[in-house]
Amino acid sequence: MPNYPHPSSFDVLIIGSGAAGLSAALRLPPKTSVLILSKSSISAGSTPWAQGGIAAALGGIEDIEQHIQDTIRAGNELPDPAVVERVVEAGAEQIDWLLSLGMPFSGEPNHLHLTREGGHGVRRVAHAADHTGRTLMETLLDAVQARPNITVQEHQIAVDLITTHRLGATHEPNRCLGAYVLDLTSDTVNTLCANHVILATGGAAKAYLYTTNPDGSTGDGIAMGWRAGCRVANMEFMQFHPTCLFEPRAKSFLISEAVRGEGGVLLLPDGTRFMQNYHPDAELAPRDVVARAIDSEMKRLGIDCVYLDISFKGRAFIEEHFPMIHARCLQYGYDMTSQPLPVVPAAHYTCGGIMVDEHGHTDIPGLYAIGETSHTGLHGANRLASNSLLECLVYGQAAAEHIKAQAVRETQPPPHEVTVPDWDDSQVTDADEAVIVTHNWDELRRALWDYVGIVRTTKRLQRAKHRIALLRREIQDYYAHFRVSNNLIELRNLVDVADLIVRSALARHESRGLHYTRDFPESDPALAHVNTICAPQLIEQPMDETYSPTPPKPSHENHKHETR
Ligand code: FAD
Ligand code: SIN
Repeated sequence: MPNYPHPSSFDVLIIGSGAAGLSAALRLPPKTSVLILSKSSISAGSTPWAQGGIAAALGGIEDIEQHIQDTIRAGNELPDPAVVERVVEAGAEQIDWLLSLGMPFSGEPNHLHLTREGGHGVRRVAHAADHTGRTLMETLLDAVQARPNITVQEHQIAVDLITTHRLGATHEPNRCLGAYVLDLTSDTVNTLCANHVILATGGAAKAYLYTTNPDGSTGDGIAMGWRAGCRVANMEFMQFHPTCLFEPRAKSFLISEAVRGEGGVLLLPDGTRFMQNYHPDAELAPRDVVARAIDSEMKRLGIDCVYLDISFKGRAFIEEHFPMIHARCLQYGYDMTSQPLPVVPAAHYTCGGIMVDEHGHTDIPGLYAIGETSHTGLHGANRLASNSLLECLVYGQAAAEHIKAQAVRETQPPPHEVTVPDWDDSQVTDADEAVIVTHNWDELRRALWDYVGIVRTTKRLQRAKHRIALLRREIQDYYAHFRVSNNLIELRNLVDVADLIVRSALARHESRGLHYTRDFPESDPALAHVNTICAPQLIEQPMDETYSPTPPKPSHENHKHETR
């Protein structure tokens, strides 16, 4: 039984190797020992998949003011103005930082090419053609490799956070001590302790049957933070991207909003445009409006998809601006230089997440959450396109600076020794019927797609709540009796996140941004600045009965839902 600090301690443990995790690591001082984990390969998150770019007001004070207004308008008045201001004002500095690391943006370093996306009043999105995410990852990884204080370990999936209170040490001030992590290469669960833990685990769009996200977007950080006692906000606002290629072999391949930004139009099967009937900005309306319009046209006409056409721009323009999308579409037999692409909406981005302050710090001392896993207040009821990577970079830096400022005080062990038990799986056996896990995966994701989608009703949400409760009991029972595996860990997280999504959706008695319900079709001005907050009650109590590494048991009777 190791005591705190554990012999294998790092100063900072970062769970997640996307834009948020890597930028935090790079912003920490070279003397800080940092361990970055990825549950799969290092490039397995959403970041390398990003296409459109990074929103940044590079045009001076007027541009900053307009970016702030666009973000708040797209977020349906719900974003926190102080947060929006802080993030937007940091945009130019973040782009400069990436340029200093050698990021090859499109255009010249002192004159970047800026593209446009829905909800932006002007061209404001810095990008590397249509593969911004891939290029960003390459840039950050090159920089990480040159930093001997940073260790990266792949195929390590965090199972749960370790906190003093969850270990029963309620006489201690609560703080995060580390995490239990399953090493997928050896099937052993290790105890990793650190002075500071950063959750940078990405979003949860995999809770839906159709998503633009990679397989690992299972909301692990949100679920782990929630189980550890963090508040979680605004989970009803799951963003659906309007335009994914309608092609089963492509697994919901995204067609960037920049295609519409550069002039692409949406068409019905008979070739007529329809977005002008829904919003004065037509194809460049905010994402929630476009996704809902497509959904409405598909239901009205009983069609499987609509079409996105940019072929009239010509081959040379398309090959220069969208080389990756063009090549991928060709693989599936679609030539966007000569024909419209069939497209449908799919779950894309988790606007809600673990509540954090301006430093990315959560409710639990020593625990940070950054990137898509967090709720900072930037996005409100609908994220403005390309604001996510900007948020990852800004909060990566903010968390690192806060840790730096805390370092002297926080590296001291707690006043009384806290024993951190190793993971003990002596009471559990190997899974007998893995089919339960795959079946529940499918059922859960279909339930969310069918009942908690673009258009909601209270009856559908209640149905989803009921299904999720049944699935949750089954999954928790399975988790309590069998050895953990990657799929089981993800499923357990997904069902917790699904529960948070449905509870939050049921609690919001209005339509706002991404949450549209037929039972409350109007926005309620009284709720314009009200976040939906799920708050655990158990923060001050030990979870010995409900939480234990041997074997972990269900714990969520203890959570209450609140709105404010
Ligand atoms: P991710 O990049 O998703 O990384 C998550 C990391 O956490 C991964 O390394 C994963 O392995 C790890 N992880 C997760 N759970 C665990 C666990 N339990 N244990 C250990 N490791 C774990 N945003 C923009 O701003 N501009 C765009 O152009 C843009 N385009 C997009 C296109 C697509 C197709 C998609 C899917 C998203 C796009 N987004 C875009 C959104 C943006 O890419 C993401 O929000 C952002 O990259 C999230 O970064 P992150 O660092 O928070 O998480
Ligand atoms: C896209 O390129 O359309 C995605 C941009 C984003 O999600 O911000």
